[in-house]
Amino acid sequence: MISPFLIDMAYIVAAVLFVFGLKMLSKADTARRGNQISALGMLIALVATLLYGGLDYTYILAGLVIGGGVGLIGAKTVAMTGMPEMVALFNGTGGVASLLVGWAEFHQSSTDIAAGTLTAFSSFTLFSIFLASVIGGLTFTGSVVAWGKLSGKLPGRPLLFPGQQIFNVLLLAGVLAAGIAFSLVGDAADPLMMAKYDLYLVIVVIGLILGVLAVIGIGGADMPVVIALLNSYSGLAACATGFIIVNKVLIVSGALVGASGLILTGIMCKAMNRSLANVLFSGFGSTSSGAGKKNEGEARVITAEDAYLVLEAAGSVVFVPGYGMAVAQAQHAVRELGDMLEENGCEVKYAIHPVAGRMPGHMNVLLAEANVPYEQLVEPDDVNPIIETVDVCMVIGANDVVNPAAREDEDSPIYGMPIIDADLARTTFVLKRSLGAGYAGIGNPLFFRDNTRMLLGDAKDSVSTLVAEFKQD
Ligand code: TAP
Repeated sequence: MISPFLIDMAYIVAAVLFVFGLKMLSKADTARRGNQISALGMLIALVATLLYGGLDYTYILAGLVIGGGVGLIGAKTVAMTGMPEMVALFNGTGGVASLLVGWAEFHQSSTDIAAGTLTAFSSFTLFSIFLASVIGGLTFTGSVVAWGKLSGKLPGRPLLFPGQQIFNVLLLAGVLAAGIAFSLVGDAADPLMMAKYDLYLVIVVIGLILGVLAVIGIGGADMPVVIALLNSYSGLAACATGFIIVNKVLIVSGALVGASGLILTGIMCKAMNRSLANVLFSGFGSTSSGAGKKNEGEARVITAEDAYLVLEAAGSVVFVPGYGMAVAQAQHAVRELGDMLEENGCEVKYAIHPVAGRMPGHMNVLLAEANVPYEQLVEPDDVNPIIETVDVCMVIGANDVVNPAAREDEDSPIYGMPIIDADLARTTFVLKRSLGAGYAGIGNPLFFRDNTRMLLGDAKDSVSTLVAEFKQD
């Protein structure tokens, strides 16, 4: 077996690769390489861990085959629209793994103390077991609830009962007090030693209940933020687990996941102009349906043939993709249309809102899959100042992220959320199947503006018809 010094060295190399990999993930053109570098770091960490002496490889192999098999099948079969659900489940499994490691370590040490082979727990280890178990447990149940809401197995609306927040705060205070009591050193002579085991079970149960109660009161529209937060929690639980089993690379990687998850949560909250407290405690979506001013006027519906005539004469077109583009899988047809417009002498851009779709980077991933050049992707801050000079803004399956109520209607639940000002373009085409609401469940005055034309139908069908028109030309 390999010396502990070499294992530590391998862990340091792995940690450095994680940091560099993460850094590279922040830019689209280096992200793929960043992913590979992080994966290499993980491989080094895994191999180094497997070279520790005294391991029982039977269980490790069984775990690798079962876990790896489930992960592989999940990754191969999941549809792009189902990614957030899968990420939620993966976070949950990370959480429960930390809980189980904490439990196993506690059980083993208790048995050793009873047998006299270990004199006492250290408070630090006990507190780490407490943190890994509570955070891991609430990450697990919270992630399962988030998965249920996203997949439609549970109602998407916030489920609130009177006094829920106070009850949650009391539970949290209770589990913290229990954790401090649990962390007090105990040895074989301690008469409270047996009670410690019962206290541990109470802590685990409260952690599991906390996860359910914390997420059940949050609306489905906020689930992506919750998932980023739970991802951060799963990292923190892993970090605590690293302290329990004294594994440096687990401490470092857990801390990195914890910190990056928190940063991502902050970015998403900022993009929606809401605080994390508002997302977690406001029950957004429970009463918002139809809130805000009534939509007035009549929507003007256009055919693909008429839309083609406008596009053919356009000098600049900005596409605004949203969740509906993912549902329709229209990204390849959109790229093809973009290429044809360019060939026609038109300037083409794709404006990506940070929370368009159902997960961070959702639209970027889809457009990258369709080989849309990164240079053509722009952010709201780049496109809004010039939107009035754009001939046609084509909104493809997006709704909330182009809702002018966020800018104009103080009564709207999404008032203040930064949007792409699609309504201010010279002409706006909205491609969706109906005049129905988006994820936030509120009406969209954009559909009734004088310069808006609704191209109703499945986005892929509509865009493909436009492409066919260009080809006929
Ligand atoms: P949404 O507001 O959800 O609107 C999507 C629209 O796509 C729907 O109105 C739907 O209208 C249309 N659609 C569905 N299937 C379609 C199809 N096959 N063809 C054409 N259109 C179709 O999407 P968005 O504008 O991307 O906004 C995202 C929402 O998610 C925001 O509320 C955002 O706050 C929330 N959210 C996202 C994130 C992240 S990280 N992405 C995080 C937190 C919250 P029809 O049914 O009429 O077709």
